[in-house]
Amino acid sequence: MYQKKPGVFMADWWDADGNRHRKQFATSAAAREHEHRETALAHAERAGREMKLAARTGSVKTSGVKRSSKTETGTIEPAKGKLGVMIPGMGAVATTFVAGVEAIRKGLAKPIGSLTQMGTVRLGKRTDGRSPKVKEFVPLAGLDDLVFTGWDIFEDNMYEAASNAGVLDYRLLEQLKPFLSTITPRAAVFDHNYVKKIDGPNVKKGKTKMDLAEQLRDDIRDFGKTSGASRLITMWCGSTESYIEPTEAHQSVKSFEKALRENDEMIAPSMIYAYASLMEGVPFANGAPNLTVDLPVMLELSRKNEAPICGKDFKTGQTLMKTVLAPAFKARLLGLSGWYSTNILGNRDGEVLDDPGSFKTKEESKLGVLEHILQPGLYPELYGNMYHKVRINYYPPRGDNKEGWDNIDIFGWLGYPMQIKVDFLCRDSILAAPIVLDLVLFLDLAKRTSELRGLGIQEWLSFYFKSPMTPPGLYPEHDLFIQLMKLKNTLRHLKGEELITHLGLEYYD
Ligand SMILES: NC(=O)c1ccc[n+]([C@@H]2O[C@H](COP(=O)([O-])OP(=O)(O)OC[C@H]3O[C@@H](n4cnc5c(N)ncnc54)[C@H](O)[C@@H]3O)[C@@H](O)[C@H]2O)c1
Repeated sequence: MYQKKPGVFMADWWDADGNRHRKQFATSAAAREHEHRETALAHAERAGREMKLAARTGSVKTSGVKRSSKTETGTIEPAKGKLGVMIPGMGAVATTFVAGVEAIRKGLAKPIGSLTQMGTVRLGKRTDGRSPKVKEFVPLAGLDDLVFTGWDIFEDNMYEAASNAGVLDYRLLEQLKPFLSTITPRAAVFDHNYVKKIDGPNVKKGKTKMDLAEQLRDDIRDFGKTSGASRLITMWCGSTESYIEPTEAHQSVKSFEKALRENDEMIAPSMIYAYASLMEGVPFANGAPNLTVDLPVMLELSRKNEAPICGKDFKTGQTLMKTVLAPAFKARLLGLSGWYSTNILGNRDGEVLDDPGSFKTKEESKLGVLEHILQPGLYPELYGNMYHKVRINYYPPRGDNKEGWDNIDIFGWLGYPMQIKVDFLCRDSILAAPIVLDLVLFLDLAKRTSELRGLGIQEWLSFYFKSPMTPPGLYPEHDLFIQLMKLKNTLRHLKGEELITHLGLEYYD
């Protein structure tokens, strides 16, 4: 749903054949309701067709969990050659990720927190004893194959930027210095109006936003050539931009390109990177809460150019805890009257979020989680009156070592109240870096997989995001364990393994 102009709201949905439709309404509620109904009908129609097809070809059992060998391996291309990782925003998260990869390659540290490196997938029955590592089960790029570039408004190379970020110990950084110093930022596409708290000298110039997009496309092609990479990925680790809502300019490639040529102010820099990447057929992940690729134009481009997309906003500290605790309350039918979350952090991200426009973008991303997990519409007595508040306070002495407090007011049997307090003394970028690594490797896998590359949004990667992207009208799954099951079942499905439903009746036959 989007607002075309004041008082004109457009319902926007895809039918079962993949055709897009729009219809005009006078209120946003009416447009949203229409969109939800049509989307649900389309899903039902598609599911019905799949079942009919399956029954005809015998490829899926009517229980719906077994896959034929037709949809299996052979459709995933091998991970041959180097994988080029391009990062707009070479700050704390980006440098902690790249330095970490190099430290692991040198045998100086372990990839803790990375599902692709340390995780396993159970296959078959619990009694089968088959649990290969994720990286052995599906063909992922190896860490030795990763090569890097990035863009930033500051001229610091990755060693200098990592030193300034103050996340990693200087003794470790000194050992990585020769490598990190070679990664220097390309000039950024930047607009101070979108990130009010910072400004820097390393910025591209162009008459129109289309000119800037062309310059980014040149950078991408140049990196492809000079790095010798056979495949590329773009990973947005730039600052959080000011809050905006989609407009007419974001609704199709045609209107977006016109807006680029006309310097439309509703086109944020991150969208120009996304456009440039997708035009080059390069997958794009969004680690910040900005709209960026969460727009109809980007979905259209992504599907057309077979460049997978995913986002938004890495799920690292407080929201990670929220998406673990809230499902537990719902599972046990415990009520929630209030959830107050506050944070102090002192890194540059914290400074940027001190601006009300950037904070609003982050707030929207953090607030949606409880509504979706707890479903107050289905459980009005338990969650109909919950009060949810999120605060972020910039407090320089803490640097990257954020502290997130949660006060949770719940109620149980007969309405008796209880409280839970969470005090998470975390390290923001240490939690984010393994997510970046997994997303790089999984998006590259998606690009090499015939069944995934044309889908656009990679919803199976919701596991990594605070505000997972979905097609219009489909609500996102926020529950961490549903997200993990979705991810692992996607991998099983791609390899023709049986999906795991946890039914388990067969053990008692
Ligand atoms: N745990 C986490 O750290 C975490 C979790 C979720 C989301 N994020 C998001 O990830 C992003 C990066 O976080 P960070 O801690 O590394 O922040 P940071 O401030 O250290 O780094 C961001 C970098 O982006 C650069 N930048 C801003 N606009 C740019 C542009 N248009 N082009 C190129 N570079 C640009 C800045 O100069 C800065 O160096 C932020 O948006 C943050 O909200 C971080």
